[in-house]
Amino acid sequence: MRRSRIISCGAYLPENVMSNDDLAKIVETSNEWIEQRTGIKSRHIAAKGEATSDMATRAAQRALEKAGLTGLDIDAIILATATPDQTFPATAVTVQDNIGMKDHGFAFDIQAVCSGFIYALATADNFIKSGQIKRALVIGAERFSNIIDWTDRGTCVLFGDGAGAVILEADDTAQGTNKDSGILSTHLHSEGAHRGLLYVDGGPGTTQTTGHVRMNGKEVFRHAVTRMGEVVAEALQANNLQASDIQWLVPHQANKRIIDSMLEKLHLPPERAVITVAQHGNTSAASIPMALAAAVEDGRIRRGDLILMEAMGGGFTWAASLVRW
Ligand code: COA
Repeated sequence: MRRSRIISCGAYLPENVMSNDDLAKIVETSNEWIEQRTGIKSRHIAAKGEATSDMATRAAQRALEKAGLTGLDIDAIILATATPDQTFPATAVTVQDNIGMKDHGFAFDIQAVCSGFIYALATADNFIKSGQIKRALVIGAERFSNIIDWTDRGTCVLFGDGAGAVILEADDTAQGTNKDSGILSTHLHSEGAHRGLLYVDGGPGTTQTTGHVRMNGKEVFRHAVTRMGEVVAEALQANNLQASDIQWLVPHQANKRIIDSMLEKLHLPPERAVITVAQHGNTSAASIPMALAAAVEDGRIRRGDLILMEAMGGGFTWAASLVRW
């Protein structure tokens, strides 16, 4: 049976770090409030002129280097972002050009906000399983600092910029020595009726302006805990696995309290979660591949480990994936 395996990861965070104390100079807030309610200590902010595609390219290049590959070895780029460089073309085609992926393949963007990385992973996985492609670059990249209302303390303290990338490769030996390895399953959901609880109040098809993030934080929190709990149960059941089989929870990094409640639901100890939200806040579609890259880099994630990814975002969208490393 053909499976897709993640063969390498890469991450990129902009140089400029904004601490909670820095934010307290702009809006009425405090380091204590932000850290206690969200677990966030700082976020990275892209430099002037540093576009989503620039960050995506850096993360992609790191993943390519680690795998010993170049753009010529990639058949498809699927890039998840809610903050594309332009309305069109897709940010993915700029990355395609930047990494020298010439004369072959295809590249496109996916928009599912904070669930975007798992949506992109699911799409690439299905292209690979169907035999249409052999290798895909799956990227989550965001420049949320451009769509934040820096006068709204309810949202501006939460988000940051960054990018993460993985390379997926077809593996036809998934039932041999590598039995059960690779992406075991992906589970995607959305519920458009709740699109008014977390959204950007502008866009090319309506106001013609970019708009800013608007959110009902309490409702988002409530839905996130419920929906992610459901989709995780669905993923475990689909693979005949128990929560206790999970070595690593690699969640979307929105809020440490949401991650803690997921750990509680799964009866997993805190040390089984990869938590990076303190360092970079909510980087939307970029957060899961960045967390994955951190835990692979420092040796926490090892061959054979069962990894659970889960996310929830505007739409609402929510998603999960189980991966045997
Ligand atoms: N600093 C200080 N005070 C703040 C603040 C800030 N940055 N933001 C809000 N407050 C105030 C509110 O005005 C309110 O004051 P009041 O009681 O005088 O009216 C008080 O803090 C409580 O606000 P509330 O919104 O009820 O706080 P909360 O406990 O729900 O925490 C969030 C707010 C945003 C941290 C929380 O709702 C959350 O994390 N939601 C999920 C958000 C998320 O993850 N979104 C992305 C999903 S992908």
